[in-house]
Amino acid sequence: MNDDDFVPQWIIERKRDGAALDEADIREWIARYADGRLPDYQMAALAMAIYFRGMSPEETLALTDAMMRSGDTLSWDGLARPTADKHSTGGIGDKLSIPLAPLVAACGVAVPMISGRGLGITGGTLDKLESIPGYDTHLDNARFRAVVDAVGCSIIGQTDRLAPADRKLYALRDVTGTVPSIPLITASILSKKLAEGAATLVFDVKCGAGAFMKTPADARALADSLLAVARGAGRHAEALVTAMDQPLGRTAGNALEIAESVEILRGDPADDGARELTLRLAVPMLTLSGVSPDEASARALLEKKLASGAALETFARMVEAQGGDPRVAEAPEKVLPQAPAVVEVPAPRGGVLARVDADGIGRVVLLLGGGRRAVTDTIDPSVGVSCLSKVGEEIEQGEPLLRIHARTRAEAEALVPQVLAAHEIVDGPVAAPALVL
Ligand code: URA
Repeated sequence: MNDDDFVPQWIIERKRDGAALDEADIREWIARYADGRLPDYQMAALAMAIYFRGMSPEETLALTDAMMRSGDTLSWDGLARPTADKHSTGGIGDKLSIPLAPLVAACGVAVPMISGRGLGITGGTLDKLESIPGYDTHLDNARFRAVVDAVGCSIIGQTDRLAPADRKLYALRDVTGTVPSIPLITASILSKKLAEGAATLVFDVKCGAGAFMKTPADARALADSLLAVARGAGRHAEALVTAMDQPLGRTAGNALEIAESVEILRGDPADDGARELTLRLAVPMLTLSGVSPDEASARALLEKKLASGAALETFARMVEAQGGDPRVAEAPEKVLPQAPAVVEVPAPRGGVLARVDADGIGRVVLLLGGGRRAVTDTIDPSVGVSCLSKVGEEIEQGEPLLRIHARTRAEAEALVPQVLAAHEIVDGPVAAPALVL
């Protein structure tokens, strides 16, 4: 398209007035935005028009595809096994990628996973993995491929060459009030996931107090949009809408979540939601990849790989292949950084937990130094909370609600009121909430 045919404000006006955009215009728009020919102010205006007017699945697919093509796209042709990946929209205590990738790899499906850092109060898989001494999340494409080939899985960070249009647009959305738009979120997530090249994608769309999507209707709309675009792009895809009102599992904080992931990989059958949800997300990765014919056999294979130690061994091999200390799989407490001060918060009364607020716990972890206030902040991998209580559990007065892991005792004690405010204890009974909505 030459410059004479392309008038940005006419495209903005069309979307402002509620019309659908042509695929060619979307493609040209993103190409020009990515290389700097189209200014931020016009992109911001179009993003706001999209926020108010929405996009059809066809427009969203065209936008996603154009953003994906703004950088490198990986191909796994020639790999001996099928490829699959999982994407979570992020939550508190959501460490599931860490046990999931090696578990699914141990079952014969390659998992090339490109993950993100923490955003706001939600933790990021990369930050968690970097609490393992030596673990390198910055592999180039050739090394990424070599690790996936040799081990079956690799978890790395986004390179500058992966969907650069998304990187630029995400930063602009962040400061123009245009983040919570389903077509823009879909294109943002999927431009990166499609560029990564896995044939099967499973989405964990979190819903609730500690998630991006607060209501089941919004979470479902995002899940439907992700599925329509992923399938439109020729991928096998499945989505689960899962609860994020209370933190997932028993820990929140980077190194603490690695230790909990190792517990899951050790086959510990005690469940607090994190193990079960790992399995629920792994099942469609196996069935859609054709490795298991149905849900029951997928589940049996996953349980077998946990019980035999194969999943844990795959994790150790991935860590080692990426420069980390593989002894983390045997003795996480000897390898991972430990916070100097550990303070228990006793329950102020006996009863049943009716609320453990994920948002409140996420804020506590951030204030301890486990999250970022600004993108340039460094995080402390050792801090966080462990032994979290779960909704529906009984508790005696004085029993620990959780443990705070902090840099100093004073820092931990200062956060006790916030921890207490995140819990509600009633006379009960309270049913344990559903994991999958
Ligand atoms: N995660 C992303 O990658 N992009 C969004 O827009 C929202 C969440």
